[in-house]
Amino acid sequence: MSRLTRRGLVAASAALALARADAVLGLEMDRRAGLDPFALGVASGDPGLDGFVLWTRLSDHGAPLDAPSVPVTYEVAEDEAFARIVRRGRRAASPGLAHAVHVEISGLRPGRPYWYRFQALGAVSPVGRTVTAPRRAQRARIAVASCQHFELGWFTAYRDLVAAEPDLVVQLGDYIYENSYAQFPKVRTFDGPEPVDLAGYRRRHALYKSDRDLREAHRATPWAVTWDDHEVENDYADLANLKALEPSVFARRRAAAYQAYFEHMPVRPSLWARPDGPRLHRRLAWGDLVGLPILDGRQRRSIQACNAPRQAGNRPRRDCAELEAPGRTMLGAAQEAWLADGLKRETARWTLLAQQTPVAPIATPEGVMSDQWDGYPVARRRLIDGLTQPAVRNAVILSGDVHAFIVADLHARPERPETPVVATELVTTCLAASHAPRARYGQAQARNPHLKFADIERSGYLLLDVRPDRLEADLRAVSDQGDPDGKTASLARFAVEDGQPGARRG
Ligand SMILES: [Fe+2]
Repeated sequence: MSRLTRRGLVAASAALALARADAVLGLEMDRRAGLDPFALGVASGDPGLDGFVLWTRLSDHGAPLDAPSVPVTYEVAEDEAFARIVRRGRRAASPGLAHAVHVEISGLRPGRPYWYRFQALGAVSPVGRTVTAPRRAQRARIAVASCQHFELGWFTAYRDLVAAEPDLVVQLGDYIYENSYAQFPKVRTFDGPEPVDLAGYRRRHALYKSDRDLREAHRATPWAVTWDDHEVENDYADLANLKALEPSVFARRRAAAYQAYFEHMPVRPSLWARPDGPRLHRRLAWGDLVGLPILDGRQRRSIQACNAPRQAGNRPRRDCAELEAPGRTMLGAAQEAWLADGLKRETARWTLLAQQTPVAPIATPEGVMSDQWDGYPVARRRLIDGLTQPAVRNAVILSGDVHAFIVADLHARPERPETPVVATELVTTCLAASHAPRARYGQAQARNPHLKFADIERSGYLLLDVRPDRLEADLRAVSDQGDPDGKTASLARFAVEDGQPGARRG
């Protein structure tokens, strides 16, 4: 008997025992008329060689469930019909975590699809599809998304993404927005004021999961997520914040936002529940083909340069000596050390660095924007030193944040175009949100010759097709984010050849 089968049998008999316990308990909260506990959907994330994390959150049609701890069973199968179930078990969904459930599955076979579902309160969840990462790979298809403002656009780009059947979705932050923008037309509205506490952030996340396109994208494929600023508050940096509130005051808001984020995302609890606080930086891999370090550029970063004390904010800067202060950091010392160490030992053909804000310099008429890596030039040098380690064969940086498609060459000293190109940067636009003022980035390419492409008007996502000899990026743009039936099509394609940093059209 194989190890796998034996484990499966043990799990199956344990589940049977649990089912009997359920029957004895009677579960008076069970089978309420019309209750739809799985209205927020299902999700999977962070695929490894032998497993992934599964997620759901029980609710009452999206509203918080008025119940104590509720038993939830899960099943993982090798086929969509659940004829070959390989894992089965039970978790408690507790009110302390908004009845969210995270299950880390391990011991599965690499490089194959799995299907999963949950059962609770007499209901069965939709069936999700996920995958384990392969041991070796000749191809990886990775979708990259960021910045989805619920009020400002429909999330129709996700229909195109689901149809493309990527192996993995990488979400680079601004998954939710905390704030409204009165100056832009709305396609729908938030259901309450800006969240500042746990109940508020939970409501906001649940509202997002009411979007069918978003739910379907989670159900169709595993995600790897990281956050940017709007998961808490625009432009925050560590504990510096927009209103310059006392750090201890803002720390409470941030902790609430972080908890709600975890409760609604397919993030591994083993990564999250750490004594030194939540940790989002980690490395995924797609066999020997793709190494995927994922960064957190918010939690530990220095405040933007030349701001008032404690007052976060993205400003155009020039003649700001603080920019060059050597102690300034985007990632914090521990994450920087972790990244440098990992890059030194990189083994994959392609290193895709998933992070938030653009790394390549983008000069604007007013200066550089202080919230991007332009505002952290010394830390950027350290980042590039890591990416130019001999072990890193092809460095491709994935960025979001600026609501524009940008393809850039990254030079060894990024501000000096005479230095060699050492990496490629692919910036995905917003999935749905407002676009920056034309005056800021309208002349981006003319002012910044290392930018190969810039489109500051379209919403959409990036679809990467990675093979050993070549990485192709398809810039997928939505026809009109204000149209609930908007169509998504290719706006441009770029390719990076193995061993040749820098993207070319085609
Ligand atoms: Fe954004």
